[in-house]
Amino acid sequence: MYIKEVYLKNFRNYREQTIELNENANVFYGLNAQGKTNILEALYFSALGRSFRTFKENELIKFNHDYSNIIITYIKNDRENKIEINLNKGNKKIIKINGVKINKSSEIVGNINLVIFSPDDITILKQGPALRRKFLDVLISQLKPKYLFELLEYNKILDNRNACLKARNIDTLDIWNEQLASKMEIIYKYRKEYIDKLQNKLITIHPELTNNQEEIKIIYKTNFTNKEEFIELLKRNEQNDLFKGFTNEGAHREDFEILINDKSLSMYGSQGQHRTAILSLKIAELNIIKEEIGENPILLLDDVTSELDEQRVMSIFDVVKDYQVLITCTDLAQILKYDCLTKNIKMFNINSGHIES
Ligand SMILES: Nc1ncnc2c1ncn2[C@@H]1O[C@H](COP(=O)(O)OP(=O)(O)O)[C@@H](O)[C@H]1O
Ligand SMILES: [Mg+2]
Repeated sequence: MYIKEVYLKNFRNYREQTIELNENANVFYGLNAQGKTNILEALYFSALGRSFRTFKENELIKFNHDYSNIIITYIKNDRENKIEINLNKGNKKIIKINGVKINKSSEIVGNINLVIFSPDDITILKQGPALRRKFLDVLISQLKPKYLFELLEYNKILDNRNACLKARNIDTLDIWNEQLASKMEIIYKYRKEYIDKLQNKLITIHPELTNNQEEIKIIYKTNFTNKEEFIELLKRNEQNDLFKGFTNEGAHREDFEILINDKSLSMYGSQGQHRTAILSLKIAELNIIKEEIGENPILLLDDVTSELDEQRVMSIFDVVKDYQVLITCTDLAQILKYDCLTKNIKMFNINSGHIES
C-alpha cells in the first residue's frame, strides 16, 4: 500500500499544505524544528488515531487556531481510499473513512498500516516495559481490530476496579476480578501469538544483521495463561492492591524480554546490540504486517541517520526496496549516498512549515 497525498490544514506549524508522495522513497530534509517530524506525526495519527509524541490533541492544532484537518489519500488493495480527520478545540474529533463518519475513533486503526522508526525507539528495549507493551499493542491492533477493542474494554474494567480499590469497596471486587481476568486471557492469547510470530521472524533476521554472531530470543514475561490463573493472581494481590489503591499486576503490566545468545539484552547488552536488536524487531514487524495484509506497509523513518550507522541504515533500506518509505533528515547527502534508494526518490525541502518538492 502507499500514501498518494497528504493534506494538512492548521496542523502543527503547517497552515495549509498538500504533499503528493512518491510510491517509493520520499525524503524530507531541512534544518531542525522546521516541521519534518510533524508530517510523519500526521500520518501516524491517521493510521493509529493518536500521535506518537503527545496524548494532548490540542497540541496538534496550529497555535492560535481552533481546528485542524488531516486528509490522507492512500491506495490499498488497488483502491483509492480517503481518511479525513477534523480536530477541534473543545469538541470531539471527527473521523471519516471514505466519506463515512466512524463512531469510535479506534475504528481508524488498521486502515493505513505503517511502521515507524524514530530515535526514541532505540530505548524501547532498555527502558521500562511501557514502551515494549506499546510496540506490541500497536503491531497487533493494526492487524486485529478486535484486539484493540478488547484492550480498551480491559482498560475500562481496570478503571472500575481501581475506583473500587480506592473507595475500599471490597464487596464488588470479585465481579471486577472476574471480568478483568476474562479480558486478560483474551489479551494474553493475542500477545502470545504475536510474540511467537516475532520470534519466528527474528530467528532469520537477527543472525543476518549480525553476521551470524548473535542468536536472539524474545520471551513473553508472564506466568499466567488463563482466566483461572489471572483470577488467582488478582486475589493474591488484593491486599497489596487495596493498600496502594490500584491494580498492581495484569495485562497492563506485562512485558517481554530479549535475550542475545541467551543473556538478557537489557542487563548485558551494549549500545550497539540494542540498536541491532530494535532494528531486527522493526524488520520483523514489517514482515509480519506484510504477510498478514498481503501488501507492503508504509515505513516512516524519523531522523534515522542520526542514530544508526551506515551498515544498519543499509540493512533496513535493503528490506524496504519496494516499500513506500518516508524519511526525514537534516542532511540530504546522508540519505542520497545509499544507491538502493536513488532509483525512485522524491525530495522535499522543509522550511518552517513550507514544503517544496
Ligand atoms: N501546535 C503548533 N502550532 C504551530 N507550530 C507548532 C505546533 N507544534 C509544534 N510546532 C512547531 O513545529 C516545529 C517542530 O516541528 P518538527 O516537525 O518536530 O521539527 P523537525 O523538522 O525538527 O522534525 C517547531 O518549530 C514548533 O514550534
Ligand atoms: Mg524531527
